[in-house]
Amino acid sequence: MNNMEQFENVVIFHHPLISHKVAILRDEKTSMKEFRELIEEITTLMTFECLKEGVPTETRLVKTPLEVCEQEVVKDNSIVIVPILRAGLGMVNGIHVLFPSAKVGHIGMYRNEETLEPCEYYCKLPDGIEDKLVLVVDPMLATGGSACDAITNLKKRGCKHIKFMAVIGAPEGVSKVAKAHPDVTIFVSTLDRCLNEKGYILPGLGDAGDRLFGTK
Ligand code: PRP
Ligand code: URA
Repeated sequence: MNNMEQFENVVIFHHPLISHKVAILRDEKTSMKEFRELIEEITTLMTFECLKEGVPTETRLVKTPLEVCEQEVVKDNSIVIVPILRAGLGMVNGIHVLFPSAKVGHIGMYRNEETLEPCEYYCKLPDGIEDKLVLVVDPMLATGGSACDAITNLKKRGCKHIKFMAVIGAPEGVSKVAKAHPDVTIFVSTLDRCLNEKGYILPGLGDAGDRLFGTK
């Protein structure tokens, strides 16, 4: 048992396929191309579970070669993806392969490297986001500051239905977001051990933005 079980709004994945991909993702020898592909693949697998509940659906009539039947479908234009820049961008295609028409809003947050405090530097959201299901994505949930503030800022802009997805989470960050936003379900593919003194997740995978975009 990990102490995340105290939070009803936290889902940690226990799946051999995800674990296998996370192992390759962590490896310092994994190339930028492979890293990018793995982030997308893990995101797609997570999205399957994340959208099991809370997705706006409607019933559509479908004519099969044999008869007409009723089938539940996801409502058009009901999901918005909001990556936290920069690293969250790496997860967008992983959802777009399932919902190519999902609109995308962007929130830019950076962590002050000394204080680790997050700061919003950019925000552009699709019109009408208030009534959509908003999937906020960022591969790394470390202190939780960036995710907490991004979600708070989306709520201030009227968003009411929010889910959050991260590939790797530290217990500190997952608890912080879970407590600050009990109405938001937090999906974390893998829960790591702790943070180091610089706010990096251990064992982690290093700096996700740098590994996705080759900046270091
Ligand atoms: C990383 C990561 C998260 C944040 C997590 O971004 O992508 O947004 O740190 O840390 P926190 O939980 O302690 O807030 P970073 O600030 O390094 O910016 P980048 O995506 O531009 O590299
Ligand atoms: N951001 C990252 O990219 N990696 C970490 O380990 C922590 C924050």
